Amino acid sequence: MQLSMTFLSFSFIFLCYLSTFDSVNSHQFGRHKYTETNRVRMDFSVLRKTIESVELVDGHAHNLVAVDSNFSLIHAFSLAHGDAVASTQYSLSFKRNLRDVAELYGCEPTLEAVEEYRRISGLESVSSTCFKAARISTVIFDDGIHLDKILDTEWHRSFTPHVARLVRVERLAENILNEGLPNGTSWTLDSFTKAFLSKLESVADEIVGLKSIAAYYFGLDINTKVTKKEAEESLQQVLAVFKPVLVANKNLVDYIFLLSLEFSRSHDLPMQLHTGFGDRGLNLRMSNPLYLHNVLEDKRFAKCRIVLLHTSYPFSKEASYLASLYSQVYLDFGLAIPKLSVHGMVSAVKDLLEQAPLNKVMFSTDAYAFPELFYLGAKNAREVVFTVLRDSCIDGDLTVPEAVEVAKDLFARNSINFYNITN
Ligand SMILES: *[C@@H]1O[C@H](CO)[C@@H](O)[C@H](O)[C@H]1NC(C)=O
Ligand SMILES: *[C@@H]1O[C@H](CO)[C@@H](O)[C@H](O)[C@H]1NC(C)=O
Ligand SMILES: [Zn+2]
Repeated sequence: MQLSMTFLSFSFIFLCYLSTFDSVNSHQFGRHKYTETNRVRMDFSVLRKTIESVELVDGHAHNLVAVDSNFSLIHAFSLAHGDAVASTQYSLSFKRNLRDVAELYGCEPTLEAVEEYRRISGLESVSSTCFKAARISTVIFDDGIHLDKILDTEWHRSFTPHVARLVRVERLAENILNEGLPNGTSWTLDSFTKAFLSKLESVADEIVGLKSIAAYYFGLDINTKVTKKEAEESLQQVLAVFKPVLVANKNLVDYIFLLSLEFSRSHDLPMQLHTGFGDRGLNLRMSNPLYLHNVLEDKRFAKCRIVLLHTSYPFSKEASYLASLYSQVYLDFGLAIPKLSVHGMVSAVKDLLEQAPLNKVMFSTDAYAFPELFYLGAKNAREVVFTVLRDSCIDGDLTVPEAVEVAKDLFARNSINFYNITN
């Protein structure tokens, strides 16, 4: 009697102990048995501490806007425009992110309260709060977006120790075409090409890479065989149709992309590439990085370094596959963090790591317009990467000491090497 009572209470305690860890469903498989034992024994405190303390290198972000910009705070929480914005407040990520920002500011968790706090504090104060909490050591800015009351890249220097820049190539092309030729004649493909390359050449030493949003124009199915004649016709067409000029003709976009990729190869600069989700300006179906097949198989570009942005979500498995097969493909897990639910963020990063070499995967916030996005990107990334690496240890993919090194690689070291950042 005595004995069996002791036995019963012992089992009860043991079961409770197990259940404090995430449940493991399939007891019948040998692998899971091993897993269960691991889970009980593993100590993740070093991993957690490493991830909480590492200074982040943010490989891809955009400039902030003034507090009174007409690009209002609701746009921090979703990529919706127009009528769809009204439903943003009902998404899981909105609720979580709003609560986190309100907690940081010590205000009510409503959009109005946060907006009020920003107005009263001013952008410099809230930026300082957000960057301090984010602990980002370096930010690489793509300053090629147009938003109302956007601040120049220099402005951001007081909030982060190091600021680097890259050039968005389609924007550069449009700026050049809109400036016109000094002698007043109209552009030809040759004069444009010369002006474009000489502009890139003149900034090559100041930038850490190029960025292309070809996906936003006609998708990633780049025609690697576009001829000069086709590009010339395409250029003349956009000059005739758009004032100010947009490079919105597929042959011209493909031509600019290939020209830029060749420049990035010859100058050993990485090329960031929009892949996966974005706003409605994008045809998501055409943003699947698998469309890059022809570019990746083209021997001219075999020595390029291309980084697929935005976790390529929802094509994260596809991106992982490409990174494992092509030496020129690297991955960035921004935007999906913090824009998705917790489940979405964790599963997207897990998908990204299914095949990819861990030295090719990099953190970014893809923050834009709002300093809160630097905070949310950093905070969520630390939590998500902890969950993902902890689970990799439990699954038996990594040892805890390996996971600690991987965390440092994902958050800083890979980007420092990749973008050749010398602080
Ligand atoms: C916001 O301001 C810009 C000028 O910076 C203007 O072009 C745009 O139409 C405005 N948008 C809205 C929604 O008011
Ligand atoms: C105008 O400038 C462009 C680019 O420098 C050059 O190719 C073109 O020949 C010039 N045209 C005239 C009429 O000088
Ligand atoms: Zn971006």
